[in-house]
Amino acid sequence: MCAKVSYLSDKYTLSQIMDGYREAVKLLYIHIFEYMTEKGFFEHLSGEITPNDIRDWSSGNAYQRFEHLSDGITLNDLMEKMNISKDRKQIFSAIIQCLADMGVLEVKNGSTVLLKSAKCPFCICEIDTKYFDVVGNVPKEIAKLVKRFDPLSSDSTVKFDGNFNRFWNAIFLAPYYAYGRDEAVKWVGFEDATIADLGCGPGYALEKLAVHAGKHGRITAVEVSKDFLDIAAKRVNGMCKVDFIKSDVDNGLPFLESSKYDGVTAIGLLHFLRKPEQFLSEVNRILKPGGKFAMGNQYLIKPTMYQGATDLYFSIIGQYSKAHTSEQIRQMLSSSGLNLNYTFEVGNYGWFYARKE
Ligand SMILES: C[S@@+](CC[C@H](N)C(=O)[O-])C[C@H]1O[C@@H](n2cnc3c(N)ncnc32)[C@H](O)[C@@H]1O
Repeated sequence: MCAKVSYLSDKYTLSQIMDGYREAVKLLYIHIFEYMTEKGFFEHLSGEITPNDIRDWSSGNAYQRFEHLSDGITLNDLMEKMNISKDRKQIFSAIIQCLADMGVLEVKNGSTVLLKSAKCPFCICEIDTKYFDVVGNVPKEIAKLVKRFDPLSSDSTVKFDGNFNRFWNAIFLAPYYAYGRDEAVKWVGFEDATIADLGCGPGYALEKLAVHAGKHGRITAVEVSKDFLDIAAKRVNGMCKVDFIKSDVDNGLPFLESSKYDGVTAIGLLHFLRKPEQFLSEVNRILKPGGKFAMGNQYLIKPTMYQGATDLYFSIIGQYSKAHTSEQIRQMLSSSGLNLNYTFEVGNYGWFYARKE
């Protein structure tokens, strides 16, 4: 292993990462609670709301769950009363899911949501900040976007481009995310390796992979966003031979040779793809036998206190996205010929490290 690469696992244990993530989600929920209070949500609800379709976990999308709140009040009515623009419906729905996940709204009998309490169950002074830096500014950035969104039109949705640098840097540099990315680099990276980093974004994994690969290594970076490709290219300039390809991986990887790669990474990518099974088959095709694959920060369907926060995050990004259960991901990996080696979860994010048979 190359001595120059530093890993977050030297600084944090996985359990510290998980603890920090939990406390930061509580902080996000406090921000959400304050926002909904300010907007008058609790005044407009009479005490009982009955959604048509409460928890459609199979879609991983909060929107359907709160389409109708009661016989009297629809989501649209409530948004109008609270002066939230109609095109924020999906985000608003995800915010209500956050309230349900934090226990302010309670699901009863599978079909009724009761307004349990207008008190926030988390107190800011009770939040354990010990490992707080594992999530950095993410709750603040998300809360800021929620507030900024409602009076604006749909073109304020987060894009994969340089205009959202501040938001993306908060996400990509937060240790809860970077920890799994480091594990991905550890899993696939070595000297002289031939690696493909798919959906490389601004190149944080790429940089470490390039340090590992050294001057005889070769990396191919594939990315749909031109801005991110440019940022990534600057980051690894002169480090090792890196080919940059601007492409939508939902169209397959016809430009990548079969059985060529020692390692492939696809971090924070699969949930944005319309054809995830086809993508994983392509990953299997381009890997050498015995080659390694790391996939992660994968949006999971997992009904926990984190689901609302994760749904909210993906609603804010506003790109096509689809969550899967951890079991579905395992199935997809296995059907494409990839053997899962190890996996872990941080909140509703799953990390999967596999190998081609
Ligand atoms: C959450 S970011 C992750 C970036 C990087 N892998 C990391 O972990 O730091 C997701 C990346 O996937 C890219 N992406 C999304 N859909 C894509 C597609 N269909 N084809 C190629 N790249 C895609 C986005 O532009 C973005 O850079």
